Amino acid sequence: MNHQHQHHDIDWAAMADALELEGAAFSPYVAQALDQLGQLTPQRILDIGSGPGVAACQLAEKFGDAEVIAVDGSSELLERAVKRAARLGVRVTTRQAEFPEGLKNLPAADLVWSAQVVHHVGDQLGALKDLAALLRPGGTLAIVEGGLPVRSLPRDIGFGKPGLQYRLDVATNERFDLMRAELPGSVAVVEDWPAMLRAAGLVDAHSRTFLVDHAAPLADGPRQFIRRTVERQRAGLAEFLDPDDLATLDRLLDPADPAGIDRRSDLFLLTAKTVHFARREG
Ligand SMILES: C[S@@+](CC[C@H](N)C(=O)[O-])C[C@H]1O[C@@H](n2cnc3c(N)ncnc32)[C@H](O)[C@@H]1O
Repeated sequence: MNHQHQHHDIDWAAMADALELEGAAFSPYVAQALDQLGQLTPQRILDIGSGPGVAACQLAEKFGDAEVIAVDGSSELLERAVKRAARLGVRVTTRQAEFPEGLKNLPAADLVWSAQVVHHVGDQLGALKDLAALLRPGGTLAIVEGGLPVRSLPRDIGFGKPGLQYRLDVATNERFDLMRAELPGSVAVVEDWPAMLRAAGLVDAHSRTFLVDHAAPLADGPRQFIRRTVERQRAGLAEFLDPDDLATLDRLLDPADPAGIDRRSDLFLLTAKTVHFARREG
């Protein structure tokens, strides 16, 4: 295997469809997490790194009286968020901002939600401090990091070496390490999120994990999400996987193959997402 040093810059706009499919497939965890916040009556909510705005729309639906602002570096993704909100009939506005510098110009909020974003910033503790600084006194920060990898296939799928998804986990972790190492200002830190939230000056830090469980046979949306995921793994993990596993991925991606992602009846989507909550005193 060839582990050449490469630049792993992510083209987020190009991932718009995949991010929207993922957001929709994962929406049950957001709904469960927002139920935990049911006692809040936020006036302003920021979704930092909103992508195409799936969670921002869920926030707007749950907290109908709040001003919800979707914030992202990608104007293309924010356009998606605007269109999605219009389609669903919820109120979401957008702000383009590059993290971490751009966060300083945002208005303070009662609830700051940031899912799967902090690990894309070199200095993760610094990012949490910047997010915490956006809270009004008494405001809540919820960040989504960690959880469990997606499972979508049986251990033995009928061809290739059994246990493909375990090897994909290892490869994903290797690529993730490289991605983090190449981020500007990358700082290694013990990823103890509640401890980091306390170090960022917040109180009542705690973590809750929510299940996303779409059983087989999969509906079109989650199936499309799995296809996009496998396509991304095939393209992005080639240098970390054996030729046998790459051949297995190719067969899974063959639309004509009855054992492929598009046609197999045993495909499912199971994962767990961890939300770390904390509060600014006040
Ligand atoms: C993995 S996606 C998460 C999207 C959404 N929050 C979710 O959970 O589905 C990361 C998002 O953060 C945005 N992002 C990543 N790094 C950024 C940066 N340095 N400045 C601004 N936005 C950034 C990307 O454009 C993308 O929409």
